[in-house]
Amino acid sequence: MKCNLHASAWLALLLAAALLFTACAEKGPADPVGSGESDSEITDVGQTADPAQGSSDEPGTTADPQPGGDVDPQPGVVTDPQPGGQTEITEPDPGPGTEPVTDPPTEPADEPAEEPVTEPVDFGDGTRVVQVTLDKYTVTVAVGESDMPWVTMLPTTAPEKGEIWTSDNTEIATVNSWGKITGVTEGKCKVTVRSKDNPDAKAVVDVEVVPKELIHVTGLTLDKYEVTVQVGLSDMPWVTMTPANADDKSEIWESSNPSIASVDKYGRIKGLNVGVCTVTVQSHDNPLLTATVNVKVVEKPRVMEPTYIEGILVVNKTYALPSTYNPGVDPTAQAALDAMTAAAAEDGIELIVKSGFRSYDLQTTLYNNYVGRDGQTEADRYSARPGHSEHQAGLAFDLNSFEQTFGSTPEGKWIAEHCWEFGFILRYPADKEEITGFMYEPWHVRFIGKTISQKMKESGQCLEEYLGITSAYAQ
Ligand code: DAL
Ligand code: ZN
Repeated sequence: MKCNLHASAWLALLLAAALLFTACAEKGPADPVGSGESDSEITDVGQTADPAQGSSDEPGTTADPQPGGDVDPQPGVVTDPQPGGQTEITEPDPGPGTEPVTDPPTEPADEPAEEPVTEPVDFGDGTRVVQVTLDKYTVTVAVGESDMPWVTMLPTTAPEKGEIWTSDNTEIATVNSWGKITGVTEGKCKVTVRSKDNPDAKAVVDVEVVPKELIHVTGLTLDKYEVTVQVGLSDMPWVTMTPANADDKSEIWESSNPSIASVDKYGRIKGLNVGVCTVTVQSHDNPLLTATVNVKVVEKPRVMEPTYIEGILVVNKTYALPSTYNPGVDPTAQAALDAMTAAAAEDGIELIVKSGFRSYDLQTTLYNNYVGRDGQTEADRYSARPGHSEHQAGLAFDLNSFEQTFGSTPEGKWIAEHCWEFGFILRYPADKEEITGFMYEPWHVRFIGKTISQKMKESGQCLEEYLGITSAYAQ
């Protein structure tokens, strides 16, 4: 990141430059810089580092020589303009007759670098970056976290202030193109920013990556604590651990009886045998946090087949249809109804279909509505439970009216007298509720074929009597 130099900083720099100029004048001509542009060109800061001036014994200044010939003494090093546009890191020139510069004590490698002391800098004609400074030279980040030093490139008049960031060990910390330093693993490394304009102008950040401070789980709840599963099927409660940003939200699941219900590492509970057990989840991070699910494993319903007795498809309270049985209106039954309707019309009787084929789902809705309205005991007298309605077989029709008084109307009487001629039976006759399971429905006819409808008409039996079967729900 870049910033402009504050006005007061400029003032300080100008003052420093003036002092520098004075020092150089006292010392004599500077080393030629080779530009040839000006005799009065200001010498570089390294050449001002005259021990006699008392500046070179300050550790951390840009003019300090470093042991081992390291040409990059400190962050914010100053560079010299060179012929041909090349730049070079400055070396101090103590000058003839001066004492050798005393090396400053070498800082231990793991101690953070100090911010360099600002020294006067030759900014040349102001068109090129010669100094890179940072707002901080040490950065401590946790693994996975980031920090970003603030860069100032000087002189601010330099038009190109692009930055080149590098890390000397990307396994410890990475740095992106705008200086965001991210900890990878615990350790230390150095991150360098260079001027794109002048790669020798650079600053170095000592980076320390420390272990991440863990956020612990303090709460554990489930979306359900009761689970009923069929043998062979599964269910999975949803776990919420708080806080949401906890580092280790892993779960440990256990079944009290794995022969009844197993549970996997995700909390998927699978029914294995009929019975009850509990399944417990525990926070891996905080083992004191647990939650328990009461599990009930029930028998898997057998896949039912429609029941035929003596070639007759039987649907009553004892014999149900599978929920998947969905044939629509039986075409033979429809043809018989059409014939009956036409015959009735000839007798001046209008037959109107109020309800024909009903799917399992529609019957479910109807039945549940009736239970809600009248209670289950009453609803069970006139509405079949899902799977137990002849309407789902596509063989039944409700005609004209749902009033029991319909049986006394000309239409109701006509149906009772003639429906057998077309292969229908009045399925729920009066006074046979104990046998059929349903109260009198003078409107409900069921197609069964003429042979049987005639026999039943002659015998006066209902279908359960005719076949010798029951009609009662199992529970
Ligand atoms: N009303 C008859 C019994 C049915 O619901 O199918
Ligand atoms: Zn009906």
